[in-house]
Amino acid sequence: GREQQRSLIDVMSTAARFYREQLKSSPRAVDYLKRRGLTGEIAARFGIGYAPDGWQSLDKAFPKYDDGGLAEAGLVIDNEAGRRYDRFRDRIMFPIQDARGNVIAFGGRILDAGEPKYLNSPETPLFEKGRELYGLPQARVGIRETGTVIVVEGYMDVVALAQYGVNNAVATLGTATTPTHVQKLLRQADRLVFCFDGDKAGRKAARRGLEASLPHLADDKTVCFLFLPAEHDPDSFVRERGAEAFQLAARDATPLGRFLLDTLAEGCDLQTAEGRAHLVHNAKEFVPKIAAQVLRLQIVRDLAAVAQLSPEETSSALGLAPPPRP
Ligand code: CTP
Ligand code: MN
Ligand code: MN
Ligand code: MN
Ligand code: MN
Repeated sequence: GREQQRSLIDVMSTAARFYREQLKSSPRAVDYLKRRGLTGEIAARFGIGYAPDGWQSLDKAFPKYDDGGLAEAGLVIDNEAGRRYDRFRDRIMFPIQDARGNVIAFGGRILDAGEPKYLNSPETPLFEKGRELYGLPQARVGIRETGTVIVVEGYMDVVALAQYGVNNAVATLGTATTPTHVQKLLRQADRLVFCFDGDKAGRKAARRGLEASLPHLADDKTVCFLFLPAEHDPDSFVRERGAEAFQLAARDATPLGRFLLDTLAEGCDLQTAEGRAHLVHNAKEFVPKIAAQVLRLQIVRDLAAVAQLSPEETSSALGLAPPPRP
């Protein structure tokens, strides 16, 4: 219930404060953040901390280390032998906050090479994956000022962009973008730019973002896709080329309609009737889901041109009502 949530929020905020304090007394962790180009100011803005390398370090922050709340908050793990230990050990800690700024989960990055690179909080009564976005409270003003939100994959992408003055980025945290994410973001922004890693996983994430967007598109909103060079993610890109290059690339990002048609045509030989039929067949699963009425008409028209059909024939092939005749 609400009271349980309240007390879990207290637990999480106490833990976040503890991790922040521990960062100050860990030169190794501070050094790591500096090596990644972060200033103390940005680390503080995102509440970044450090979980020390002990099995029960949290007992310093929680006198009642055996309290049930710590397990419910996902901060400790009770093993089969009945022994309790900290989930996060020797990791850089990124607090995930809800829109109000309450800490609801953590992501912890290993300092050196090792597996897993990131360890995240489990789902708890506070934290439902697929709803939350990392960096949302910090990005609120930037989103309002620019009318644009940039969606990236990772914690470090959000933080590095902010370090370079790009203050309107949020991250989906390695999970696929959901329609709920898109709905939330398009309530705050007129333009949504997906900018995932240039690798294979990033391209797959872009397709998921595309699918998640279709039911929440509106004719006065723009969704587009910025594809980075293969070896880059937003963090490495902004660090290597600077904020201006990133902003230019974001401005020229591929509009959803273009990306959708390219995706649908993948593997179809448009020189042949069969290939053009396959294209329209592929479109059946996606185009009818587009919620924006006029944009859907526009995309049907573009699809029709490529498929060498009339818009009416295309609509009917997609099971859509034919476009209205003047
Ligand atoms: N992720 C995760 N668990 C992993 C790997 C990744 O939860 N084992 C999530 C994290 O939120 C991470 C995001 O997916 O930030 C993107 O993953 P990746 O590109 O591999 O990491 P980076 O954010 O680029 O991390 P870094 O720059 O610190 O290497
Ligand atoms: Mn990646
Ligand atoms: Mn990455
Ligand atoms: Mn990275
Ligand atoms: Mn197919």
